[in-house]
Amino acid sequence: MNYWNSSLIIGKSSFGRFIGSPLDGITNQPFRTMVRLFSPSALMYTEICHCNTIVYCEPVVWGLDAGEPYINFQMSAADETFIEAACERVLAQGVDMVDINIGCPARPVISKGAGSALMGDIKRLEAVIKRFRSCLPGRIMTVKMRAGFKENNALQVAQMLEGLGVDALCVHPRLQTQGFKGEPDYALVGEIKRQVSIPVMVSGGITSFADARRVYEMSGVDGFLIGRALLGKPWILAQMTAESVGAPWVMPPDYIQDTLFKHLDAAVVWFGPTRGLAYFKKHLKVYLEQLGVGKGLAIELLKTECPEDFKQLFCQYVSVELADKQHQESNLIY
Ligand SMILES: Cc1cc2nc3c(=O)[nH]c(=O)nc-3n(C[C@H](O)[C@H](O)[C@H](O)COP(=O)(O)O)c2cc1C
Repeated sequence: MNYWNSSLIIGKSSFGRFIGSPLDGITNQPFRTMVRLFSPSALMYTEICHCNTIVYCEPVVWGLDAGEPYINFQMSAADETFIEAACERVLAQGVDMVDINIGCPARPVISKGAGSALMGDIKRLEAVIKRFRSCLPGRIMTVKMRAGFKENNALQVAQMLEGLGVDALCVHPRLQTQGFKGEPDYALVGEIKRQVSIPVMVSGGITSFADARRVYEMSGVDGFLIGRALLGKPWILAQMTAESVGAPWVMPPDYIQDTLFKHLDAAVVWFGPTRGLAYFKKHLKVYLEQLGVGKGLAIELLKTECPEDFKQLFCQYVSVELADKQHQESNLIY
């Protein structure tokens, strides 16, 4: 059994090595439903959910679907105030794996002292993690961290988290000040992997199996969180898994089209027609690029205001154009 044939083990559970990273506003229930059509047992993180939202709002607002399998529910907190009550509510929903976000760089999150701001305040971070650990007995608890807040202190933080009973880490090796840009520091992830004995996953810049293999060779990490490469490609985890064991992966245009329609339908079921279409449009550009749809038509599709108009326009032009293309290609072959 080689590395790519084997599983990522966290606690007593095993998972595939390619994991859906949390993307606020993107990796919601309809998107996770789509990913599971291709990768039924892939681990996926939810979007970030602050403890006070959990305490004051219903599970549907946290983006949680009852009984969803293979889910790592991501929570955030600036201090201990709401942690106990939030954990009770989350556990009551049957969640058995929780991730704590200490990496979010966004202003609204760090201005409250949560996300990556915690990495800049070790005492508060320690108190928050201890509290989560004691409120999540027997559950897998992971932490998604950065290289640091303003300065790199990732190794010190990783060692502290291991000592506090965290089961696995995901390191996005950029500082808060870098946001989501710049070359991730994979050597730092390798250093952390060597210095702790819990599993270490990496996030940042991995868009293909070739990227994952290169990062594995540099760092020896245990798993890969795939973020922005998920957009408009709910099959990407399945594709990377297939390619990692030498199996080819092809997505013919009619499969892409079919996936696009299913994705829109899933979004409409979860959010309703208006919000569902608006959310689905975040994925549209990538779907259309893969189908070779020109800019003019893409703009017209983006302007549609209800799912029926979108589908009508799509079928009228894109499906016909694709059928023509496929017809021309088959004429060339024979
Ligand atoms: C739009 C957007 C939303 C994100 N939301 C979250 C989030 O809710 N929780 C989290 O831990 N990280 C979040 N991230 C960070 C990603 O999970 C990931 O660490 C980062 O995008 C780097 O990985 P990538 O290059 O594969 O996208 C977000 C990133 C983006 C671009």
